[in-house]
Amino acid sequence: HEALKAELLDVALEAARRAGTFLRDGRPDDLGVAATKSSAVDVVTEMDIASEKLITGFLAERRPADGVLGEEGASSEGSSGVQWVIDPIDGTVNYLYGRPDWSVSIAARKDGETLVGVVHAPMRGETYRAVLGEGAFVNDRPARVRPAPPFAEALVGTGFGYLTERRVRQAEVARHLIPQVRDIRRGGSAAIDLCDVAVGRLNAYYERGLNPWDFAAGDLVAREAGALTGGRPGEALSGELAVAAPPGLFETLQGLLDDLGAWHD
Ligand code: IPD
Repeated sequence: HEALKAELLDVALEAARRAGTFLRDGRPDDLGVAATKSSAVDVVTEMDIASEKLITGFLAERRPADGVLGEEGASSEGSSGVQWVIDPIDGTVNYLYGRPDWSVSIAARKDGETLVGVVHAPMRGETYRAVLGEGAFVNDRPARVRPAPPFAEALVGTGFGYLTERRVRQAEVARHLIPQVRDIRRGGSAAIDLCDVAVGRLNAYYERGLNPWDFAAGDLVAREAGALTGGRPGEALSGELAVAAPPGLFETLQGLLDDLGAWHD
């Protein structure tokens, strides 16, 4: 597995860098001003699709036998057993408004296990990466979670989905949580939120309704940095519920979210 993991990491880093540079340099300057116009949204959608094409094209060159699963529709089985899970822009709304927290998220899975995760955040000048069993890094520095604070002092990240019905429920959960913790952040890129837990910029993160491409890479980065991640108690992190925090905080937050019904709409 060692040689395979090293190769996958190399390929993921290069693919993410290429897409990140394309997105940063190719973003029209007036997009933020025009953010409310549907034409601006169309530009972002086009960039999203072009970024995914760039990534899948590069992967097809370097690892032709692998499968892919991408937010913009890329989907193939492949024959190698390796599957790439790709979010060509995570934090699309931030990208639209010219806010810096957007990322390219790329993970490689084999036999249901994520082996490699890369979250590249060009406007932060940071790339988060992890290899299963080998730790997490931000650029070339090791990434480590912040030790668990008392619950009342936790800075907790979250996100809200696009469906109105879901957002009503998410607001309910947040309403209960806000008085119990230091504060809440809504960063706008789930992949970056998970990496922020990994580097100690958040104590914890949770969200309902993510897709695999939002969390595959960030989940591994968070775990390799010392976080626990999961869904409802006893379950793996999934689209139903994603929770990430250091031991000691994780169990409390997970239990509370379960009680509050954060896992259903
Ligand atoms: C979204 C972001 C956001 C989260 C949403 C996701 P996208 O991904 O990760 O932070 O709250 O649930 O859908 O659409 O920008 O790739």
